[in-house]
This record gives sequence, structure tokens and C-alpha cells, in this order.
Amino acid sequence: MRVLVTGGAGFIGSNLVDRLLADGHEVGVVDDLSSGSRRNLAGAEGDPRFSLHEMDILDPALAGLAADFRPEVVCHLAAQISVRKSVADPVRDARLNVEGTAAVLSAACRGGTRKVVFASSVAVYGRPTVIPVPGDAATDPRSPYAASKLSAEVYLAAFKALHGIDYTTLVLSNVYGPRQSPEGEAGVVAIFTDALLNGAPTVVYGDGTQTRDYVYVDDVVDGFARACGEAGGGGRFNLGTGVQTTDRELHTLVATAAGAADEPGSAPARLGDLPAMAVDPAPAAEALGWRPRTDLATGLKRTVEWAMTRSAARQG
Ligand SMILES: NC(=O)c1ccc[n+]([C@@H]2O[C@H](COP(=O)([O-])OP(=O)(O)OC[C@H]3O[C@@H](n4cnc5c(N)ncnc54)[C@H](O)[C@@H]3O)[C@@H](O)[C@H]2O)c1
Repeated sequence: MRVLVTGGAGFIGSNLVDRLLADGHEVGVVDDLSSGSRRNLAGAEGDPRFSLHEMDILDPALAGLAADFRPEVVCHLAAQISVRKSVADPVRDARLNVEGTAAVLSAACRGGTRKVVFASSVAVYGRPTVIPVPGDAATDPRSPYAASKLSAEVYLAAFKALHGIDYTTLVLSNVYGPRQSPEGEAGVVAIFTDALLNGAPTVVYGDGTQTRDYVYVDDVVDGFARACGEAGGGGRFNLGTGVQTTDRELHTLVATAAGAADEPGSAPARLGDLPAMAVDPAPAAEALGWRPRTDLATGLKRTVEWAMTRSAARQG
């Protein structure tokens, strides 16, 4: 099938592009390269079934592109992804994540698209009282980013009601793996990996007992690939492991994978940080046949190996 991936030059998007091409699909990418890069698409470029369109999703030309490309499925990952940036500039966050999603949905209609698969975030759950968070848990957005992701989810439902365009929302926990940038605030695996391989100091905030649910990028991409079919239409599914890992445990695991000393510095807890998070993947297993297959130690080993290869290539 023909699939359009917005944000396809980014961390998750580019891994998805590789998977879709390997599955035999034709793949178009729309990305303004604001945080993604062509380097992430090195494996795809040159493949006659692949095309990159360097374009903002808010560019009015997007609808024409979709009308020409006629994607059967649109995987919508392009977004402003930083909670902190959303707090500093909520209007820009809404423009990219809400207006941007409306633009992608309108373009999908022009392109005769059957289904849109959307990347939402566990941020929509706010401060959950039950962990792992069940698939039908109430949403409670507590940042402009969470509000914009939830608004985008509502737009998917509205477009289905209005135009009959199907959708699946995938609610992603903390995704990690090759191509994640250490520049962002959320990619703690990438941040630890980069620092530990370069002999730079690392910091664990608070008492190190804060937990997150780390899910490997290949598993997340498998969820997207499954959602591109008929399964899961009109539904939203958590993509996480249900397992909580503390910040301190994560540091030990990354240090082990990197062959580095497990001696993080400490700093006061950051205001507003969630004490705990993990999500229940059972509904995704039932609806999509999805389950996380990569345990954390294996995923971290692959991530560290990739980071070492990348830094060797840069030095070489
Ligand atoms: N990484 C995670 O742990 C995580 C967790 C929950 C949700 N998500 C969601 O998954 C999606 C992908 O995240 P990621 O971690 O790969 O981030 P990323 O920054 O690597 O990828 C986002 C991509 O979107 C592109 N982009 C941004 N604004 C654009 C615009 N206006 N027009 C066109 N392209 C634009 C960027 O250049 C980049 O390539 C996002 O929607 C994010 O909110 C990620």
C-alpha cells in the first residue's frame, strides 16, 4: 500500500519508514526537518518506492501533495514534542499539534485516505492514580502539550464522523532506541548514552525513584505497522510495556551496556515531574496482536551499539 508518514525524518518516523519499506510498501515522507534529519533516512533514500517532501504540515501545498500521492494510510507523527516548550509557548504548540493535525486530516481527505494512525502521548493521562494506566483511563491533560495531543485525538474522531476517514490513536510511553536525539528533554536513554560514551557527567534528579515505562522503538514501529491495516479502527491503544523502571535503575542499565562507571551526580527533583508512569498494553494485544518484544537490557544494548557506530562514523 501507499503510506504517507508525517515527521518521517524524525526518531520514530524514520524507523517506521524503514519498516514500511521492508514490508513492501510505497512510502512518502512529509517533514520540515526542524528536528529530524536526512541522515535518518539514509537507508531509504535511493529506494524507488521512497520519496521525501521537505514541507511544513501547515503549508497549504500539503493538500495538493496528498491529492497527487493518494496515500491509503497516513501515519501522523510530525509534532512539537517538548512539554517544556509547550509551556513556554502554548500558541506555537497548538499551531503545530492541533492546527497541524487538522491540516493533515484535511489533506488525508483530499488524498482519498482510508485511515490515519496518530502518535499521541501518555502525557494525556496527567498524574494517573492507577499504574499501569488502563487503556480506558480518564484523560487529564496538565500541560499545553498534553492538551494539544488530546485535542488532536478529538479531531480524529470528528473527521471520522464527518468524512468517514478511519483512525487509530497510539498512546506512546517513553520510546527509546537508535536515532533518538540526546538534545531533547524526554530522551533520557539518549541523554545517558551520549554522556556515558563520551565520559561526560550524568545527573539523576531527586532520589532516583521516579519511574517511567521504556518501550523500544522497533516495538512501537510494529504497533504502527499493525495499525495501518483494518484492525483497531476508531480505537486508542497504549503502546508501553507496563513495566516501571526507576531513573537510578535506568542509569545502571545504560552504564552496563556502555561499559561505563555507574556513578551519576544528583540534583534536586524538577518541579512538575511525574513520580511514576507505566501503561497497560493489554488492549493493544487484543485489538492489534501487538506486544512489546524487546526487553530493556536488549534494547539498551542495541541503542548503545548504534550510538558507538554513529560516533565512529563521525570521527572517521
Ligand atoms: N519519543 C517519545 O518517547 C514519544 C512519546 C510520546 C509521543 N511521541 C510522539 O511521537 C511523534 C514522533 O516523536 P519523535 O520522538 O520521533 O520526535 P522527533 O522530533 O524525532 O520527530 C518529529 C518529526 O516531525 C518533524 N516536524 C516537526 N514539526 C513539523 C512540521 N510543522 N511540519 C513537518 N514536520 C515537522 C520534525 O522535523 C521531526 O522529524 C511525535 O508526535 C511525538 O509527540 C513521542
